[in-house]
Formats: sequence, C-alpha cells, structure tokens
Amino acid sequence: MKTMKMIYFGALLLAVGTVNAAPFGGEADVKYAKDLWTSMVNESLAGKGSIMSVPYTGQHPHGAILDALDGPINIDGKLHRIIIKRNYGGPGVSKSAVANDPEKYLKAVTVMLKRPGYDPDNKDWFWVKYKADGSLDTNPAGMKLAGMIAKGKPKGCISCHTAAPGGDMVYNSD
Ligand code: HEC
Repeated sequence: MKTMKMIYFGALLLAVGTVNAAPFGGEADVKYAKDLWTSMVNESLAGKGSIMSVPYTGQHPHGAILDALDGPINIDGKLHRIIIKRNYGGPGVSKSAVANDPEKYLKAVTVMLKRPGYDPDNKDWFWVKYKADGSLDTNPAGMKLAGMIAKGKPKGCISCHTAAPGGDMVYNSD
C-alpha cells in the first residue's frame, strides 16, 4: 500500500510540474534571453553598427527583407552556435534601402541558439523573438517569446522549423 501511495504521489507531482512549467516565456528563459541580447551587443551581433550580411528577399512569416548570420557566440566562456535572422519592413523597404540604413527598417530579430542539454527533444535550440530595440516580443496571449517556442497552434517556431530539411531544424544551412 505504501509504495502504491508513493507512486501515486510521484505521478501527481510530475503532472503538476508539467502544467506549471510553460515551455517558453518563464522567468529563467526571459532572463537568459536578456543576457543573450547583451552578449550579442557586446559581440556586435546586435544593436547600433552590428555586423550584417547581404539582405535578401524573405518569405512568410519572417518578413519582406531579411539578413541572417550564423556563427559562434561566447556565452560564459563557451562557444555556442547562434543563428540570427533580422526582419526588415515598412514603407519603402528594399534590399538596397536596408543595406544603406538597416536600423530604420529593422522590425524584429529572431534567434536560434544551440544550448546543449536544453531541449533534447528538439535539437537543443533556444528560440527568441526580439523587437528591434532588444526587448522581447510577445504572442497574442501575452507570453514572452523566449524558450521552447512551441509546438501546436498557432504555429510556433518549433512546429514550423521541424519541417526544415536535414533534421536540425535549420532551413538555410551554409
Ligand atoms: C510558419 C513557419 C515558421 C515559423 C512559425 C517560424 N519560422 Fe523561422 N524560418 C522559416 C523558414 C521557411 C525559414 C527559412 C527561409 C527564410 O529565410 O525566411 C526560417 C528561418 C529562420 C532562421 C534562420 C535559420 C534557418 O532556419 O534558416 C531563424 C533564426 C528563424 N527562422 C527563427 C525563428 C524563430 C525564433 C521563430 C519563432 C519566434 C520562427 N523562426 C518561426 C519558417 C518559420
């Protein structure tokens, strides 16, 4: 009887834990994303005068004109792969307009960061969507877009990127 009760209790705890732990937008994920933005700024991957690649015409849902970077970033002394996609739009947007004045047209910065052990079910990517100023974007439910975003409806980063060829959730691989 005693073991039965313990098993039951354990299962209950597990169930409660699963309900409480949102896959994204929680305190730890938000803090990690804020620190990540600081690291990106420090390495000239975000903010004024940041490194840029050649702008290209994008596809839904990522925006009219895009530019993408794929490389290592130093976080707490370890190198992680980061893929940064900047989304540009607004009146008059074009590839050359963006190349000349990226800050004027920047709408959002979407990031995939490889974090070993973070989400083994989904290739250990940490997903973020920042606004142009580095603050976190939110979904219609008001949840901050940082973490394991998300499976299900409406389509989150993971549910859509699962369809990318090559099995690493990355669409454009170098
Ligand atoms: C409806 C599908 C869809 C959703 C949802 C989506 N993406 Fe993407 N994403 C794409 C496609 C398609 C590409 C490649 C084409 C391109 O460059 O636009 C891409 C490219 C990227 C890239 C460049 C690396 C790569 O895979 O080529 C990053 C980074 C990225 N997305 C981040 C995100 C983040 C973060 C979210 C969630 C906030 C997200 N994406 C949501 C479809 C999606």
